[in-house]
Amino acid sequence: MSDELKDLALELRRHLAWQEADGSRVILGDRSAAVSKPAPVAAVKAAPAPVAAKAPAPVIRTPSPPAEPIAKRPLDEIRRELGDCQRCKLCSGRKTIVFGSGNPRAELVFVGEGPGEEEDLKGVPFVGQAGQLLTKMIEAMKFTRDDVYICNVVKCRPPNNRNPEPDEIEACEPFLKAQLASLQPKVIVALGKFAAQTLLRDTTAITRLRGQWREYQGVPLMPTFHPAYLLRKPEEKRVAWMDLQEVMKRLGKQSDSKKGQ
Ligand code: URA
Repeated sequence: MSDELKDLALELRRHLAWQEADGSRVILGDRSAAVSKPAPVAAVKAAPAPVAAKAPAPVIRTPSPPAEPIAKRPLDEIRRELGDCQRCKLCSGRKTIVFGSGNPRAELVFVGEGPGEEEDLKGVPFVGQAGQLLTKMIEAMKFTRDDVYICNVVKCRPPNNRNPEPDEIEACEPFLKAQLASLQPKVIVALGKFAAQTLLRDTTAITRLRGQWREYQGVPLMPTFHPAYLLRKPEEKRVAWMDLQEVMKRLGKQSDSKKGQ
């Protein structure tokens, strides 16, 4: 096998690893084929059609919130300020505060919703089932978890994994903002409704927000589906992968579907 073919096979395997995280497989494709239904089986076997290299899509600046500059402080200082937080009612049920993990100089930051049971036990974001899928998504983007930074809108587990409530989000938001100001990433990926709506101050449904570049404090932000949702609706992985390919493009990473042509 030529080096190029070997490379291609490796890239394809990496793709399929996260596509198959729950035993399902869906076709990967370009935006022109973006529909939220599974592709026909025959399409899985078809060779990808050549697509010309495109410049990253423009960032939509409105109606993002007006920028209020936030001081850049080291992450450990922000963590110290959070302390043994009692600022909202989530403190009574949590075992561990899940502040965030990864590279403090990451160019790519993922923001999720809030810790689940495993994260609450381990103090690390996205280590449960959804986290394993997120790891595969990150690796499909040709990053490792150590390259990126991962955090959540709320730092404490909501009881029984219920949605975080507005007062809880509000209490935790200064810390998320401070983390993002500290990291100053090149791109933020908002995973799911709570991350996207909180950062964008936009109540539009995630089904409509996803896939469109927005801006948070001057940083390009891509809303996409939450990995937990993708575990429930594997047929949506295809469009989520398109969103992640946009992110790769903006970060100068070649995506597999292009490389394979
Ligand atoms: N879901 C999230 O949104 N965050 C985590 O850390 C784990 C699951």
